[in-house]
Amino acid sequence: MKRIALFCLLLISCPVLAQNYDEAKVPHYTLPDVLKTTSGKKIRNDEKWEKSRRPEVLRLFEDHIYGKMPTDYDSIRYALTEDDRPVMDGKAVLKQVGVTVFKKKNSVQINVVLFVPTQVKKPVPVFLLINNRGKENTDPTRVKKSEFWPAEMVIDSGFAIAAFHVSDLAPDNKDTYMTGVLQKLYPEQLKMDNGMKAIGAWAWGASRVMDYFETDKDIDAKKVIVVGHSRGGKTSLWAAAQDRRFAACVTNCSGNTGAALARRQFGERISRINTTFPHWFNNNYKKYNDKENALPVDQHMLIALVAPRPVYATNASKDLWADPRGTFLALKAAEPVYALYGIKPELPKDPPGIDKPIIGPHFGYHNREGEHNMTAYDWGNFIRFAKKF
Ligand code: GCU
Repeated sequence: MKRIALFCLLLISCPVLAQNYDEAKVPHYTLPDVLKTTSGKKIRNDEKWEKSRRPEVLRLFEDHIYGKMPTDYDSIRYALTEDDRPVMDGKAVLKQVGVTVFKKKNSVQINVVLFVPTQVKKPVPVFLLINNRGKENTDPTRVKKSEFWPAEMVIDSGFAIAAFHVSDLAPDNKDTYMTGVLQKLYPEQLKMDNGMKAIGAWAWGASRVMDYFETDKDIDAKKVIVVGHSRGGKTSLWAAAQDRRFAACVTNCSGNTGAALARRQFGERISRINTTFPHWFNNNYKKYNDKENALPVDQHMLIALVAPRPVYATNASKDLWADPRGTFLALKAAEPVYALYGIKPELPKDPPGIDKPIIGPHFGYHNREGEHNMTAYDWGNFIRFAKKF
């Protein structure tokens, strides 16, 4: 008896132990119908989806999870700090761009590292990484090279590659996240229960980099693929969901409140993410701690907001925390919205095996053997996917 009581106490005090990793213990759940409006109307075509249901779903995500993203600012300036410097044995040119956004005498600067291939006809498509890891991963000098952002490999395949660091927008820290774009440009957001927090601010930054791409004649701004890993992958999905200028989205190992279904309650759960990272999502989201079924949305609806644009989601076999099966099922459950645009189902009913990628044209998915990470294997598949559309 004593032992049972001790175990129960441990479960309560140590949320890690309370996570479920057993498929047999996934509760029965019903996903909200992405094609049914809140007033109960069934959506049967893309026009109705775009006019009524899509804006409604977007609002639900803003209000209950990611926060409403402000779009107003006074001006934006782009300063090229380095240009026409051939690098990578002449295969690319390095551009470092300071994107500065001004509002009421305050400003925020986003530092973009961009390599453009020299041996390809311009304008070129580009992969934009939202970098949530160390800045050395996107080293402009290439002294340090990282699989997380394999610039040489992407350049060799004919694409440009860019990155910015999340800390330019909001420090990834619960005590200081507000010191960037939030306090400087949008302090009112901090008082709103549906105001954006760090992940909203990072996604806002991706859109400002998109503003820059629209002015760069080397870049095909209609072919920008936004990429993120883990918390960055939650961000890339949110960025692509609301900014329809992004041509496609890669959401790598994004897990809970990224591409994985919340209602499965497998691996990381909402209560856990809100406790460990209270600065990522809005205040309203805290109401759903241990109440996944009360959410008016689930993450398949976030993927659906990207439709008809392509989405590639990944997992890693040892990263059960991010719920590989739940990620695949979310993609699958978004297919009915793609069908409104005449896109036939591309995904099987069940997830493919480990290292068996499914590549496009509209959906990409793989579960890589190994740990939570973004590697050259993952990027190789993103490139194959991008070449398909
Ligand atoms: C933690 C967090 C995840 C997140 C990950 C990351 O594990 O719980 O939700 O995706 O960090 O960003 O690496």
